[in-house]
Amino acid sequence: GIPKFVNIVEVGPRDGLQNEKNIVPTSVKVELIRRLVSSGLPVVEATSFVSPKWVPQLADAKDVMKAVCDIEDARLPVLTPNVKGFEAAVAAGAKEVAIFASASESFSKSNINCSIEESLARYRAVCLAAKEHSVPVRGYVSCVVGCPVEGTIPPSKVAYVAKELYDMGCFEISLGDTIGVGTPGTVIPMLEAVMAVVPAEKLAVHFHDTYGQSLPNILISLQMGISTVDSSVAGLGGCPYAKGASGNVATEDVVYMLNGLGVKTNVDLAKLMLAGEFISNHLGRQSGSKTAVALCRV
Ligand code: HMG
Ligand code: MG
Repeated sequence: GIPKFVNIVEVGPRDGLQNEKNIVPTSVKVELIRRLVSSGLPVVEATSFVSPKWVPQLADAKDVMKAVCDIEDARLPVLTPNVKGFEAAVAAGAKEVAIFASASESFSKSNINCSIEESLARYRAVCLAAKEHSVPVRGYVSCVVGCPVEGTIPPSKVAYVAKELYDMGCFEISLGDTIGVGTPGTVIPMLEAVMAVVPAEKLAVHFHDTYGQSLPNILISLQMGISTVDSSVAGLGGCPYAKGASGNVATEDVVYMLNGLGVKTNVDLAKLMLAGEFISNHLGRQSGSKTAVALCRV
């Protein structure tokens, strides 16, 4: 069976915007976050406290966080690559953070400029600091089925990194198909390997939709007992250090599928679509959500 309730983690303001070339004004980011929260989303990843040289779009992380940290209806986690980022995040009012490791050595190097082992050591320090501040930490594993440089990634490697993040105290591990190459054929064995070392209720799935495989991948993940799904309003996004990767699966499309399955999410699809329209209009392009495009016509 599949879960009766799915927790959607909206990553649009972070994963969605981080790859945009033109700088989106802070006020637009803040308005987007507010609209997403009022659509009923329980978690909205707000921004990243990373190096502004690496991700210029999110250089206003402090201002975004200060403007939204009074919001109480949703959790608003932020990405922190090291203790420096963690301290800046907490100082700006963040109450939850996420750390991001990779199952691919090459991607680790290009995304965070260190090896997998070095990153795990850094993240242990973040987890320690977070524990002192009682700040929950979410852990990401990137490249869980494929890497732009290394190609196929073995499930055992993903399981190893996921377990390390779990053991250092992450309350949830999000498994990222960063470049969207996975199909149920590769995702199932990966999930089986991870679920042998981390319980399904502590896992989330994070699919980029490069090959249009996200919805089948989400459906099989739900069938395997996972009940937390990451997605991005209007299908925004991509990782600046994963060339050619397109946006995350669109939140509207996930909600539409879950509504059809009778699975509850607490999200109001009409309000969510307005948030998607707001940011798509600002970016000057059509929504990447098929559901949003279809429902606009009826
Ligand atoms: P580095 O250059 O090796 O860092 O970058 P460093 O420690 O040598 O420091 C260099 C400079 O950066 C110094 O400043 C530091 O102060 C500064 P300088 O002295 O030159 O003026 N610095 C910072 N500034 C602000 N905030 C910080 C910070 N840390 C150092 N936290 C680093 C290493 C990790 C910082 C860098 O590589 C980085 O910021 N990377 C982030 C890349 C990123 O955000 N990628 C996208 C998110 S991951 C993703 O999208 C995948 C995911 O969605 C899941 C999936 O799809 O699979 C999560
Ligand atoms: Mg991502």
